[in-house]
This record gives sequence, C-alpha cells and structure tokens, in this order.
Amino acid sequence: MIYKRILWLLAISCVLVLTFMLYSSFVLTMKKQRLFNAFEMVQTRNAYLDQSTTGRLFEKHMTVNLTEVIEYFMKFKGGKDIYTRVMHADIFIYSVIGLNNSEIKNESTAPWSNFGLIAWKHSQVPDTNMSCCFLYDNGIVLNSKLRKSSTYIKAKIQSFRFECVNPNQLLKPKGVTLIVKNYPCTSDISTYVAPVFPYRPPGNNTIALCAKVAFGNLNAALTVEWLEYNKNMGVDKIAVFVSNLSSTTSGIFQHYQKLGFLEVHPFDLPMLGTINRKLGQKSGQGWSDEQIPVYDCMDRLAGYSIVGVVDFDEFIFPLQDKDFKQFVNRLRKTYPDVSLFTFFVDVYVMDWGKTNDNETLMITQFKNRTRTMQDRVKNILIPEWIETGSVSTHNAAPRKGHRRMWIPKTLAVLKHFRSCRSEWGNRCHDITHFPRFTDDSLVKRLIETKTDTNVSLYNHILKVKKDLKLIS
Ligand SMILES: *[C@@H]1O[C@H](CO)[C@@H](O)[C@H](O)[C@H]1NC(C)=O
Ligand SMILES: *[C@@H]1O[C@H](CO)[C@@H](O)[C@H](O)[C@H]1NC(C)=O
Ligand SMILES: *[C@@H]1O[C@H](CO)[C@@H](O)[C@H](O)[C@H]1NC(C)=O
Ligand SMILES: *[C@@H]1O[C@H](CO)[C@@H](O)[C@H](O)[C@H]1NC(C)=O
Ligand SMILES: *[C@@H]1O[C@H](CO)[C@@H](O)[C@H](O)[C@H]1NC(C)=O
Ligand SMILES: *[C@@H]1O[C@H](CO)[C@@H](O)[C@H](O)[C@H]1NC(C)=O
Ligand SMILES: *[C@@H]1O[C@H](CO)[C@@H](O)[C@H](O)[C@H]1NC(C)=O
Ligand SMILES: *[C@@H]1O[C@H](CO)[C@@H](O)[C@H](O)[C@H]1NC(C)=O
Ligand SMILES: *[C@@H]1O[C@H](CO)[C@@H](O)[C@H](O)[C@H]1NC(C)=O
Repeated sequence: MIYKRILWLLAISCVLVLTFMLYSSFVLTMKKQRLFNAFEMVQTRNAYLDQSTTGRLFEKHMTVNLTEVIEYFMKFKGGKDIYTRVMHADIFIYSVIGLNNSEIKNESTAPWSNFGLIAWKHSQVPDTNMSCCFLYDNGIVLNSKLRKSSTYIKAKIQSFRFECVNPNQLLKPKGVTLIVKNYPCTSDISTYVAPVFPYRPPGNNTIALCAKVAFGNLNAALTVEWLEYNKNMGVDKIAVFVSNLSSTTSGIFQHYQKLGFLEVHPFDLPMLGTINRKLGQKSGQGWSDEQIPVYDCMDRLAGYSIVGVVDFDEFIFPLQDKDFKQFVNRLRKTYPDVSLFTFFVDVYVMDWGKTNDNETLMITQFKNRTRTMQDRVKNILIPEWIETGSVSTHNAAPRKGHRRMWIPKTLAVLKHFRSCRSEWGNRCHDITHFPRFTDDSLVKRLIETKTDTNVSLYNHILKVKKDLKLIS
C-alpha cells in the first residue's frame, strides 16, 4: 500500500519537473524568438533602432531590450558572417580589435580607448572620406574622427587598417564601424562589428607567431612537425586564418586548438564579383588579400612580448640557445634598442630530392640546404616598439628611438623547406650557382630537445602523428 503511494508521488513529481522544464525551455525559446525577430527586422527590413523611445524598437508591436538585441545580434553575426559591409561604401570590415599600445594611449586611459579596424576597401572609395561610429548599450551611437589609415600595396581591392578613437572613453562599445563622412552614424546594428580585446599573457618573453592563411590541404607531415617544433621551442600562441580546409588539415588544427596553442580564425575574400580571385594567388591582389591576416594578427597578438610572421614551412633556428625563450632573452639583452629582428635564410630545396629515404619525419628527409642568404626575409618584432599598422609579411617600421637589425648568422637563421623558386630557373639545380650544404642541425635539435614528459621531440612528433592517425 505504502509503496503504491510512494510510486504515485514519484510519478507526480516527475510530471511536475518535466512540465517545469518544458515550460522554461518554452520561455527561453520565446525570448530567443523575440530577439531573433528583432534581429531579422533590423536586417531584412532595415528597420532602425529608435533611441528616442529608450530601448524600444521602432515597430509598435515589438518591445525588446535593445542591449539584449545588440548582444544577441553580435553573437549571432559573429558566427555567421566573416566580414561586414560598411553603409554606402565598398568597404568590408574583417575585424575590430581593441588597442593597448603606448604609441596611442597612456596608462590612465581605458583598454577600449582605441580600435584597429581591419578591412578591404575598393580602390575607388577614398579612405580620407570616412569617419568612425561607435555603438553602445541601449542602441546609443556616437561619431568620431578616423585617427589614421594604413595600407600595404596598391590593388583594386586594397587591404586597409583604420584606427578609430572611442569618443566616450567611459563606455565600452558593443560595436564599431565606419561611415562616409557627413552621414550620421547609423543605428542599423548589422553594419557594426563587435570588437575583440587582445589577451596579454603573464611573463616577460611571451612569444606568438602569425601563420597567415591556410586553405585547402596542407602538407600534413610538415604541418605537425612545424607546430610541434614551435610549441616545444617556446612559442606560446600561433594564430592562423583558415578557409575551405581539408578534413585532414582541419583535424590537425582542432588538436592544437584544444590544447590552447592554436587560434583558428575563419577567413574568406569579399567582392569576388568585382574581382574573381582565389587565396594564395601570386599577384598584387593576392598579396594585398594576405595582408588582412597580418594586420589582424599584429593587433590581436599585441599583448605578447615578441611576435613573428612566418609560414608553415619556415623554422626559426637559434644556433646558440636551446629554445626561443633563451634566444629572445639574449636578443633583447644584447640589442636593447632593436625592435625589429630580421633572419637570414637557409633554403632546404625539396626539388633536389631526399637525402635520407629511411627517415620518417619530413624535415629530416631533406638535409641539403643552400648557403645562408637573404631570401624573402622574415622578422620577429617587439609590438610595443613598432608603428601600429606598419607590419607586413617581410617588413615593419620601428618606432622612433628603435631600429631594425639583421640577426647575425651565428646566432640564428630561418630554415625554409620549399621547392625551387621559379625565378631561379635551371640554376636551381646547378651546384656552381646553388652549392649544396648537408646540414643536419635541425635533426639533431629534434633529438636533443626534450618535451614536458622527457621524451625527445623527435619521438614525441612520431607519437603525435600516430595519435592523429597520420602514420601507422
Ligand atoms: C536590458 O538587458 C540588459 C542585459 O540583460 C540588462 O542589464 C538591462 O538592465 C536591461 N534593461 C532594461 C531596461 O530592462
Ligand atoms: C595595457 O598595456 C600595459 C603596458 O603597456 C599593461 O600594463 C596593461 O596591463 C595593459 N592593459 C590591458 C587591459 O591589456
Ligand atoms: C593620459 O591620459 C589622460 C586622460 O586622457 C590625460 O589627462 C593625460 O594628459 C595623458 N598623459 C599623457 C602623458 O599623454
Ligand atoms: C565624400 O563623401 C561625400 C558624401 O557621399 C561625397 O559627396 C564626396 O564627394 C566624397 N568626397 C570624395 C573626395 O570622394
Ligand atoms: C621579468 O623581468 C623583470 C625585470 O627584468 C624581473 O624582475 C622579473 O623577475 C621577470 N619575471 C619573470 C617571470 O621572468
Ligand atoms: C575547397 O577545397 C577543395 C579541395 O580541398 C576544392 O576541390 C574546392 O574547389 C575548394 N572550394 C573552394 C570554394 O575553394
Ligand atoms: C646533398 O649534398 C651533398 C654535398 O654536400 C651531395 O653529395 C649530395 O648528392 C646531395 N644530395 C642531394 C639529394 O641533394
Ligand atoms: C638512415 O640511413 C642513414 C644512411 O643512409 C643512416 O646513417 C641513418 O642512421 C639511418 N637512419 C635511420 C633512422 O635508420
Ligand atoms: C630524462 O631522461 C633521461 C634519459 O633519457 C634521464 O637521464 C634524465 O634524468 C631524465 N630527466 C628527468 C627530469 O626526468
């Protein structure tokens, strides 16, 4: 008898709990639906947020909290659109990044005082004809002057970096955008981009690398070797911009993303109708498009002590230091006024063929290199002492009081695995022009370097490749 009652009680409470759960999820769904409707309305019917009725959308039957709409909108959009078109101008914003650089601010101002806007601009749109717009809670919008704009090379669709000053330093903006001068700032949220704020890791010699764009299928073996090498040599963070990745490459990236080592940012090109083009194109337009990730990286990674722009086949190789932390420490102590350090390059020409067939790692199969030379040089730099917006793949402008230097060949080189450059022609295979030096210093370093678990980096890489099912 008593058991029956308990069973009944249990059944009833189950039903009650279920009803409650259903009801709350219903309420939540309704709220989401409401926000979504507001969002759709703003986007499709181009309805404007009306500030005069404090926190109400223009259309009478809708009453929503504008702060919530803005937050929802920014989140929804962030995951959906890769770039945002500016009103009345062919400018497509890729990202907005909060700046904390002593060039433009001092300790007493808020971390949201200045912003870098990374964007593509059609060459016909004059960059001097723009001003900045800031969107805050409750749909308030404010206008401010453009502080400066930088570009890299001429192209029909040019990469630009704009710098905007927050007109109300007490308020943290929800969105930032550009507007053609003399137009009032729009309250159409769909033209604003939510800003990101760079992370500043603790420590003195924190190191980040920018790997620019990865698309399609990367060489899996080399990619894992490069990521592991950098991770175990003391790089703290790598940023990469991806488009249409193969499932193998994307699997590799996910592994390093989970470890918190790799930042992966979705990437794509706007205005394909104006200029039909592909990523990686060797042309002015292609190089201009590649500058977007460089501008973005430099602002996004500005909280690190040292930042470098290098590709997936380029290995920074210190000759006298066992890892990058020691190496960077040495550079900064020996050359305290230098903010831009440039590497000489050893090219491991893969067209020459393998020097060791029995090796399992890609980078240990090619031991022949050119003499150390100047070849599309790469740099590492101290962001704090570099002009904002001045960094490109091969160059940057040190701020006043700082300078550039070539890293002595005896201290470090950049080891670059690649095929013959087309401009080398047949000379590439002629040993009078390109004498071959057998150099196994990288292999030795892989064997000498120990990971956290005290295995050699060489063996560790083999294990990772097995775990990722890249080798059996
Ligand atoms: C709007 O929503 C925000 C965030 O949920 C909240 O802090 C604020 O108090 C709300 N404002 C009104 C007027 O309800
Ligand atoms: C801004 O940079 C200064 C050093 O230049 C640093 O002390 C401060 O913590 C930074 N603020 C943020 C929010 O990153
Ligand atoms: C730093 O910013 C504060 C507030 O904007 C300003 O009063 C002060 O003069 C600035 N200091 C310098 C050295 O620029
Ligand atoms: C700037 O924009 C205004 C408004 O669209 C336009 O009238 C003016 O011609 C533009 N100026 C230049 C230099 O293009
Ligand atoms: C960072 O550098 C300062 C000054 O050179 C030093 O006092 C401090 O111990 C260093 N911190 C770390 C974590 O190395
Ligand atoms: C995406 O990559 C695949 C190969 O991995 C290629 O066949 C396809 O054309 C690419 N798509 C675009 C839109 O680039
Ligand atoms: C590598 O270089 C050595 C000379 O240092 C040469 O004898 C050998 O043939 C080269 N091998 C390849 C594959 O280039
Ligand atoms: C590969 O072969 C070379 C000789 O060609 C030998 O010196 C080396 O020890 C071999 N490496 C491995 C991993 O078996
Ligand atoms: C790491 O392993 C080597 C042998 O491979 C051993 O001599 C050394 O003591 C180990 N170090 C640590 C910290 O466990």
